[in-house]
Amino acid sequence: MPVVRNSFDGDVSVWCVLVAAGSGRRYGGAKQFESVGGRRVLDRSLDAALAHCDGVVLVVAPDAVERERRLAEAGLADDAGAPTAVVAGGATRSESVRCGLAAVPDAAGVIVVHDAARPLATPELFSQVVGVVLDGASAGVPVIPVVDTIRRSDGAVVDRNELRAVQTPQAFAAEILRSVHAASPEATDDASLVEAAGGTVSLIPGEVRNVKLTTQEDRLIIEAFLAVDNSTAAPSTAAVVIDESSLAGPEREDS
Ligand code: CTP
Ligand code: MG
Repeated sequence: MPVVRNSFDGDVSVWCVLVAAGSGRRYGGAKQFESVGGRRVLDRSLDAALAHCDGVVLVVAPDAVERERRLAEAGLADDAGAPTAVVAGGATRSESVRCGLAAVPDAAGVIVVHDAARPLATPELFSQVVGVVLDGASAGVPVIPVVDTIRRSDGAVVDRNELRAVQTPQAFAAEILRSVHAASPEATDDASLVEAAGGTVSLIPGEVRNVKLTTQEDRLIIEAFLAVDNSTAAPSTAAVVIDESSLAGPEREDS
């Protein structure tokens, strides 16, 4: 059973597992290596992670490991951002997270898991999810309101006010994340595993721009956000404002 609350003393080492080992079936190719706004999706995600983490473990498909290691060495030589380690991922996202976790030092107190396919997540969002874990939550998770009217596949309408779309980066107390992954579970995100194991998941406002590149249409949306940023002197990093009272409190015990 994982520790439900954690306490940290002094400096806490924060590491990121950046998962980029998917095949991009819905996109039609390995989208994380595509270029958006003149820079690879993966490199944009990496920049945001590096801005707030002591180390980043990049997880890519086995056949991309050597190339990404070479690029990382070149990046370091140029004083540009580079992952601390590049490792091979697995057949599912959860397996890839575990491959990354194996390369995170034991000394890490907080581990952030981020989808490389979200190139517009800001360093501030990393800072915020880490902050709620340092304050005692097992996990810090960004969410945004659902804007569409939703029906179940059996036709029943679902009250969208009860729904939130979940994003990454997600931060975790390291020992809790390691403990839930020890049983090799499968899930589309890690917070759901932590919550199922009795951990406290703290929801924070996510970012509307933090789109996950999933389909070709998402690419157009991401390019449009980047074009707006380039055409204004002060790029907007505004997060969507969520009525906190509608999130059932900043910390939810197991629900
Ligand atoms: N991912 C991974 N290892 C896998 C599957 C997914 O590291 N075996 C990563 C993806 O590279 C992506 C993130 O997990 O950064 C979120 O997954 P998703 O958006 O579903 O990407 P893909 O699995 O590549 O896309 P699809 O599901 O359409 O095939
Ligand atoms: Mg997938």
